[in-house]
Amino acid sequence: MRLDRFLSESTGLTRSVAKKALHRGDVTVDGIVVKNSSQQIDGQEVCLEGRLLMAPGPRYLLLHKPAGYISSTQDEDHPCVLQLLPTELRRGIQCAGRLDVDTTGLLLLTDDGQWSHRLRSPKKACNKVYRVDLAEPLAADVAERFAQGVDLHGEDKTTLPATLEVITPTRVLLTIQEGKYHQVKRMFAAVGNHVSGLHRLQIGNIVLDDSLAPGEWRHLTAAEVASI
Ligand code: URA
Repeated sequence: MRLDRFLSESTGLTRSVAKKALHRGDVTVDGIVVKNSSQQIDGQEVCLEGRLLMAPGPRYLLLHKPAGYISSTQDEDHPCVLQLLPTELRRGIQCAGRLDVDTTGLLLLTDDGQWSHRLRSPKKACNKVYRVDLAEPLAADVAERFAQGVDLHGEDKTTLPATLEVITPTRVLLTIQEGKYHQVKRMFAAVGNHVSGLHRLQIGNIVLDDSLAPGEWRHLTAAEVASI
């Protein structure tokens, strides 16, 4: 790809503004100032005013969402998870699925609308694994009730079969196929309990890395992107 096209597609600048930046000497390729807009770019590091640019093309990110951040677009009381990403990565990026403000863990973000749609589609039945802390010890029949499906307040259909793995009486792993609004909290409310802590560990084959601290992110691997 030509350097002026790389610049405009990776930053959103028009081609003529990108050319002006080139002529000013604001652009380096592998550390060397380049003013020739037709130079071919194929894997080199391109910086604009010292900032490394991401190659154009769809972006797929995995974020360890901290508590206190929202994954929807606007909320006056809380910052949005997009603020945890470098500015140059944010353009066109949206959360692929949501977590509540107090929920932590695996959040996927992308600018690829079709991929995001596939991930959230009920037809794809992408399993999501949550670690759930409970206010009350788990009742003996809950695993069976979740396997059968429970009625959620305001929903016509019972939940799809979900699996529960007990870690302690007040800590479990729950795997669900759906992503209804506040689904995990409503499922435990339906069986007379209360979620006191919620953390997402996995979506499909994509697992939150132990090495990513809350607020840290990484690009998905090609295999992870293809797995959805
Ligand atoms: N279920 C919930 O209740 N909250 C979340 O954030 C995710 C799943």
